[in-house]
Amino acid sequence: MTITLTDRSADDIERAIREAGTQQGVGPVDILPPGAGWSISQNPKELAAFLRKMDVLGVRSMLEIGTQGGGLARFCGEVMGWDVVSIDYRDAATTQGYTFIKTYSRDYTPDREFDLIFIDGDHHYNGVRDDYNRFAPLAGKVVALHDVYGLHQCDGVKKFYEEIKGPGWVVELNYDWPLGIAWYAKPQAKAEAPKRTRKGAK
Ligand SMILES: C[S@@+](CC[C@H](N)C(=O)[O-])C[C@H]1O[C@@H](n2cnc3c(N)ncnc32)[C@H](O)[C@@H]1O
Repeated sequence: MTITLTDRSADDIERAIREAGTQQGVGPVDILPPGAGWSISQNPKELAAFLRKMDVLGVRSMLEIGTQGGGLARFCGEVMGWDVVSIDYRDAATTQGYTFIKTYSRDYTPDREFDLIFIDGDHHYNGVRDDYNRFAPLAGKVVALHDVYGLHQCDGVKKFYEEIKGPGWVVELNYDWPLGIAWYAKPQAKAEAPKRTRKGAK
């Protein structure tokens, strides 16, 4: 199935996420029939709002910690058009559209920087803290944490986020079934982001 974007607005990205399909049982809205789709383990509204902002900030590469099915990595690679590396100690259902590395995060030392570091691996307090300390310095533009709302046994992520949050942090939250993506853009990323012009303006 080929999924394409038209105007890359948040609505357009959300439509594409729903077309690809989110994981069964992640929230009350089960979009996929069992066994079908890309199994993106995200709330479509939160993810669309987040990806739109990343696009505007000029994000073009991502390191994802915690691949699971591979749906998010594939979406960011194939649909957003980013250069994506994703790591997990378990196999992913798909490795299409991105580079998969089977490893524990503590054993992975990237030799390059990524525009976006997306941390969604070990959700225990010590695990998310260690991943943040290890990978956040590699973020060229943005570091993000998934599941900061604390649902689905993610209270370790919530606790860690409460400790580090401060000016500049943004949380994407959709109260239909909140998971919460918290992100922080380095000041340089904002300065480099392309200026948006009004429609028809020169
Ligand atoms: C919530 S899922 C990731 C969902 C995925 N990011 C998405 O949006 O579709 C968390 C994944 O992290 C992986 N994981 C947990 N601890 C890890 C570790 N220390 N190193 C690498 N992967 C880990 C698990 O195997 C699991 O597949």
